[in-house]
Amino acid sequence: MDLKDLAAKFQLEGTVIDVKALGEGFINDTYTITTGEGAPNYILQRKNKRVFSPIPAMMENIQIVTSHIKKKVIAAGGDPLREVLTVVPATDGKLYFKDEDDEYWAVCILIEDTITYDAAETPELSYAGGKGIGKFQSMVSDLDAQLTDIIPGFHNIRYRFKQWDEVLAKDPVGRKAGLAEEIGWIESRKEEMLGFWELYENGSLPTRITHNDTKINNILFDKQGNVLCVIDLDTVLNSTALNDFGDAMRYYTNTGLEDDPNLDNVSMDMAIYKAFTKGYLEETISFLTDTEIEYLAFSAKYITYEQVLRFLMDYIDGDNYYKIKSPDHNLVRTKAQYKLLQSMEAQYEEMKKAVVETLAGLK
Ligand SMILES: Nc1ncnc2c1ncn2[C@@H]1O[C@H](COP(=O)(O)OP(=O)(O)O)[C@@H](O)[C@H]1O
Ligand SMILES: [Mg+2]
Repeated sequence: MDLKDLAAKFQLEGTVIDVKALGEGFINDTYTITTGEGAPNYILQRKNKRVFSPIPAMMENIQIVTSHIKKKVIAAGGDPLREVLTVVPATDGKLYFKDEDDEYWAVCILIEDTITYDAAETPELSYAGGKGIGKFQSMVSDLDAQLTDIIPGFHNIRYRFKQWDEVLAKDPVGRKAGLAEEIGWIESRKEEMLGFWELYENGSLPTRITHNDTKINNILFDKQGNVLCVIDLDTVLNSTALNDFGDAMRYYTNTGLEDDPNLDNVSMDMAIYKAFTKGYLEETISFLTDTEIEYLAFSAKYITYEQVLRFLMDYIDGDNYYKIKSPDHNLVRTKAQYKLLQSMEAQYEEMKKAVVETLAGLK
């Protein structure tokens, strides 16, 4: 279907002048819709149904979250078209349009004059990232909504261990025998990791609305460098706030690559960690519970451990989940993430101290 015809399926203001590929993002195909003078421009996306499903429920989740934030932005005298995503419905009122190939499309208002960053390479940017994620969590901290779980088992280590045991029992490509040491990395930390997840299961850690894709390129900043809003809300879920914190720290603090073949490159950057923690806590201190705060530093280890497990499990399973660029790619990833985990473990006391000291500075 022609992109302009697709655009015409949505309730747009103004006349469509042009639709062109934006060429950013990894999951969805993103286009910008340019309209005539006086009307907003828009973002058109083909939503990736191979990664998230069902898309209609996912769009419903996004709508629940954005309308809640919008109300708060308006109440605070902010700009509801810039400080939160605005989903634009299709002409039939649905939040998506399904084309003749059963592909799903969605539209939101393009927020103009923003700055985005590809990576949080400096403490300043890491601090800004912490503010962005913290602000998002703060906006939804009073939203009591049951969202559709579009990625079941996400960050649920009990579920991962079930998959892990099944894959190990099957050993479909005979790789297990050569991996005693790596399997030991997982097994030796099992209790500790399950213990953390139990706190979530038994309600000691509250269920909140979380973003689950905390990369800094999902945060829009204004020209002055202030956080406007968090975008890419496809993965909003009910889970623990610590999943966002932990995943951000796994991603932001790594001095090397996720699949770095040179393990000397990989470590956890404490300055990046501290800066993110400061930005995050400034926004979330008013509502996080003592237990959440107590486990912040742990959550970075938890999410990194989970990733070690998932890469190793996929390697043993014969590489069915992650795309690989070489036969041992998943093993390289396993080792690189394990190196990061070890670096976090070595600096764990300091990570906890950083949380306490940041809090003291905020009071
Ligand atoms: N509402 C918006 N306003 C301005 N830019 C946007 C908007 N939505 C997306 N973008 C831009 O498009 C890119 C890709 O969109 P995103 O929703 O993050 O897709 P993906 O899931 O593929 O990462 C973003 O990184 C951002 O640069
Ligand atoms: Mg994105």
